[in-house]
Amino acid sequence: MADTILLGLDVGGSSIKAGLVDTGRGSLTTPLHSVPTPAPSTPEAVLQACARIDGELGSAGPVGLAFPSVVQAGIARTAANVDKSWIGFAGGTRLSQLIGRPVVFLNDADAAGVAEISAGGAGKDAQGVVMLLTFGTGIGSALFVDGELVPNTELGHLEFHGRDAELSASARVRTEERLDWASWCARVNEYLARLHALFWPDLFILGGSISEDFDQFGQLLESPAPIRRAAHGAQAGVVGAAFAAARQRRR
Ligand code: BGC
Repeated sequence: MADTILLGLDVGGSSIKAGLVDTGRGSLTTPLHSVPTPAPSTPEAVLQACARIDGELGSAGPVGLAFPSVVQAGIARTAANVDKSWIGFAGGTRLSQLIGRPVVFLNDADAAGVAEISAGGAGKDAQGVVMLLTFGTGIGSALFVDGELVPNTELGHLEFHGRDAELSASARVRTEERLDWASWCARVNEYLARLHALFWPDLFILGGSISEDFDQFGQLLESPAPIRRAAHGAQAGVVGAAFAAARQRRR
């Protein structure tokens, strides 16, 4: 059904990813579209870029907008890897004004988690506590208890060796510090051990841009809980944003 095809947007610190998603099947109907995040990444610059993508992809219906900050009641509350002027900004309301359609605004890792916990995702059959982690510019987290999202968990900011974990173990840090897979995985394993000791998840799902290279490092990861690669890879945020828009419409 054509009206199940919705636009998912995933704003990151480095790029804005987007695609039309068949929300019945959980797959993109177009190749993943990616443009650099405007610098500075002010709300107006980012949302104008999102509106342009919407026009180019010719989408209809509600839109999902995944964003790398805590999002409470439609308002961005933090801005770790984007312009600080996002704090207090109603991103979905503004994009909705620009495109004239409803917009669901949510945290990017939560969006990726929504995709991975649904049909076609790595956690579709998982019971209990599922923790998805995204490794990209920062580290994002999404926590599910029996399939229900506990939003805005922000575990990339857990203190780790005296500073935010994402400053030690994100994909960006791996590139910047030129860490080989073994050195980076040693940091990630220690981080997973901390998370496991605090949350006792039944399953970890590893996502974000680095999950595209999972074949190269997956065997180096260890944890008391099983670790699965995100089935939607780096597209999970786009797919999950569109799912969130579809769910909102059904309410
Ligand atoms: C942000 C999170 C986001 C994560 C991944 C962190 O710096 O605080 O909200 O989910 O990066 O983008």
